[in-house]
Formats: sequence, C-alpha cells, structure tokens
Amino acid sequence: MEINLWINGKEFKDDVLPDTVLIDFIRSKGFYSVKRGCETSNCGLCTVLMDGKPILSCSTLALRGNGHDITTIEGIEEEALEFGGFMADQGAEQCGFCSPGFIMTVIAMKNELTNPSEEEIKNYLNGNLCRCTGYMGQLRAIKKYLEKGSK
Ligand code: FES
Ligand code: FES
Repeated sequence: MEINLWINGKEFKDDVLPDTVLIDFIRSKGFYSVKRGCETSNCGLCTVLMDGKPILSCSTLALRGNGHDITTIEGIEEEALEFGGFMADQGAEQCGFCSPGFIMTVIAMKNELTNPSEEEIKNYLNGNLCRCTGYMGQLRAIKKYLEKGSK
C-alpha cells in the first residue's frame, strides 16, 4: 500500500505493509532520534509529533501517517537544544534514555498550552516515563523553559 507523508518538511512516498508501524517507517528514512523502549504504548520514548500533536510511533500504523506532517527531533533541533540546556542546568538528566520522547512532548505542550499549571504539566507528561530521576529536575527545567518563553 502506498503512503505519502512529510517528515520534518520532506516528502516521502513509499510502499508499506498493512502492519508496518510508524517508528519503523520513520527510522527507515534515517531519522534515528526516534527510539524504541517498551513497544507497548507505556514509556513515551518513541514520541513524535503528527500535525503538531504528540503520538506514540511504536503503536501507530505507518498507514495512519498518510497525508500527515510528522516531526522528529531532527526537525526541531534548535528548540530541542534550547530545552536540553534547561535540563542540564537543573541536573535533570541521568542516563538520558528517556530524553528524545520527553523533549518532543515538552515542546508539543509548550505550543499547545498557555501558562500551564504544575498539574497540567504533569498530566501532559504522564505518558513519558523516566526510570532514573524522580521527575523533580525535569519539572524545574520545564517551568524555567516556559517562563523564558513567556517573557
Ligand atoms: S516505545 Fe512506544 S511507548 Fe514505549
Ligand atoms: S534519565 Fe534515565 S530514564 Fe530518564
């Protein structure tokens, strides 16, 4: 089945099997920032944006991407680096395994919510798991990042 979609603004047309998952399609095009964790919709590591909204690429069929805009970290490198600086300042990263999906979700939240409360931030991020940190450093980094964006 042929699909036609855009990844970071670049158009791709290709044949996929009915059960090809989006993460495999994206990685086959060279966007290796998108990583596998649980593959069961639980960890958030494989998060990409579809038309600006976070989705789990491990449990989304490539066919569902047909006609849509997909964004990975490679497409928002500057913003990702900026947020990464806030994470580093707050000592919010340990092994860094969760970071690719986490950063995508934070950036989607920044674009979607205006002045989110702590509760709203936690709700938005509840699908992105981190096994190392306890989340307090990330929360501080997000608040500082959002504060800076609203100045
Ligand atoms: S790898 Fe997709 S949610 Fe864990
Ligand atoms: S920093 Fe290790 S899983 Fe998040």
